Amino acid sequence: MKVLITGARGQLGRALIKLKPSDIKIFAMDRSNFNMLDISYCLKTINTLNPDWIINCGAYTNVDLAESDKETAMRINYQAPEAFAQEIKKLGGNFLQISTDYVFSGKRITNSPYLTTEKRSPLGIYGQSKAKAEESLEDIFSDSSQGIILRTSWLMGPVGKNFLITILNLNLKSKEIKVVNDQIGCPTSTISLAKVCWKIIKLKKYNLIFKENRNRILHWQDDGETNWHEIALFISKLSKEYGLIHNHANIIPIKTSQYRSLVERPSYSVLDCELTKNLLNYRGRHWKITLKEILKKIHLDKNNSNIFKTKFKI
Ligand SMILES: NC(=O)c1ccc[n+]([C@@H]2O[C@H](COP(=O)([O-])OP(=O)(O)OC[C@H]3O[C@@H](n4cnc5c(N)ncnc54)[C@H](OP(=O)(O)O)[C@@H]3O)[C@@H](O)[C@H]2O)c1
Repeated sequence: MKVLITGARGQLGRALIKLKPSDIKIFAMDRSNFNMLDISYCLKTINTLNPDWIINCGAYTNVDLAESDKETAMRINYQAPEAFAQEIKKLGGNFLQISTDYVFSGKRITNSPYLTTEKRSPLGIYGQSKAKAEESLEDIFSDSSQGIILRTSWLMGPVGKNFLITILNLNLKSKEIKVVNDQIGCPTSTISLAKVCWKIIKLKKYNLIFKENRNRILHWQDDGETNWHEIALFISKLSKEYGLIHNHANIIPIKTSQYRSLVERPSYSVLDCELTKNLLNYRGRHWKITLKEILKKIHLDKNNSNIFKTKFKI
């Protein structure tokens, strides 16, 4: 089976490549050979390579910058996947779109995990661009089983631009780190998510399950429910235990209103993953276990193992 991965140098892209099943051939596409702003060039590449699946990890992920760069964010997050999905459908292949909790506002009266069937209500440009892609893909694949949308949240891995690496680096240079404690959600390890992506692709019978779920949307995040402050504390304490930092900074809880940001973030981001767990016959792991696994990997990585580095690589 041939699988084309967009955004292959991103944190999820890299995890997918690392965890690739042995019988799968990967076309790892990044900005240099598959610039998603040049949609017609990408379509030619898709035609030439004719993959069985496309996993669309490529995305404009800078949520704040998207507010002032709407056209680029829309092109990469909405128009590009829309065009790729139309093309792969014609070629007879399948499309796995990675989407986000940001398609929801997080403004719920009662905090219960978001179901896959709930109405989208994005707050900013990034969320809107991903929500528009979802709507378009639902439309394209309304008469076919070739497309799946997989929403996730708070993605963190041993490499890449993510909260865990940011907190490690802040611990190296700051005595005090202020972190919001009133946004509720759950981290997702790139390792867990990559495994789920490969399981979806390997699954033959997902069509049966989707009979009742016409919108073809799945959710995946690690187990549990927490906030950014608690995560920062956990990362800092454990990284000291692993000898990744000398001393951890004082991690101070603040409210979202005290944090300067260009865009409002969802205050509640827990996703209901039961459908995915049942479909894949796969149990999740608690976020503390998966973050511990990531920190252990960083500790063991030979580039990071000469302890007390000045900066953890992105
Ligand atoms: N990160 C999160 O917390 C989070 C949460 C929920 C959902 N998601 C979704 O999960 C998916 C993977 O996210 P991630 O965290 O792995 O993101 P990431 O690390 O930022 O990776 C995204 C990749 O897309 C690439 N890209 C950006 N513009 C491109 C262009 N014009 N042409 C080709 N490639 C381009 C980037 O390339 P460069 O490296 O060259 O910029 C980067 O490698 C995305 O769809 C994202 O929306 C992420």
